[in-house]
Amino acid sequence: MNELKDIIRDVPDFPKKGIIFKDITTLLADAPSFQRMVDLIAHRYVGKKISKVVVVEARGFVIGAALAYKLGAGVALVRKPGKLPSETFSKTYQLEYGSDTLEIHTDAITKGERVIIADDILATGGTMATVVEMVEALGGEIVECCFLAELEFLGGRKRLPEGKVYSLLTF
Ligand code: PRP
Repeated sequence: MNELKDIIRDVPDFPKKGIIFKDITTLLADAPSFQRMVDLIAHRYVGKKISKVVVVEARGFVIGAALAYKLGAGVALVRKPGKLPSETFSKTYQLEYGSDTLEIHTDAITKGERVIIADDILATGGTMATVVEMVEALGGEIVECCFLAELEFLGGRKRLPEGKVYSLLTF
C-alpha cells in the first residue's frame, strides 16, 4: 500500500499558501497503480449487491466509474450547479468562506437502491456529508462512502455515518 501512497504527489501552496495539496493525478496516470487501486477498493464490495455507484465531481468520477464497471453497477453523477440537464435535487453547504452547491438528478437513484458513494479524498467531510444527505433524500440505501485517501488529521470521518466510511489510504 505504501507504493500507492508514495506515488501521490505533494504540491505545496495549492490552492493557497500553506496548504500541501495531495495530487492524485500521478497515481491515476500510472497504469499498474490505477488498476491496483480500483481492484483493492472494488474487492471490498464484491457480492454486496451494489446496484449504483454515486460519484462526486470531478476526480470522484474517474475512480467511481472504474469501480462501477468492476462491480457491474450503474453510475449516478453528483455535479456542480447548472451542469445536469434534467430535474435535479440540490443541496447547498457551508465552506470556511462562503458556500457550495451540489446537484443530482432526482431519478438517478431509485428508492431502496443499494449504493456506494465514491470520491478521491476525504478532507473536512463537508462534500461527502452533503452527498450522503442527498442520497438519503432520494431514498438510496448507503452501503458505504469510499475514498482513495483520507486526510485523517482533518477529522472528516466524524461528519459521516458511523461505520460506513472506508478509505484505502490514510495520511
Ligand atoms: C475535493 C475532493 C473532494 C473534496 C473533499 O474536490 O475531490 O470532493 O474536495 O473535501 P472536503 O472533505 O473538505 O469536502 P474539489 O472541491 O477540489 O473538486 P474537484 O474534484 O472538482 O477538483
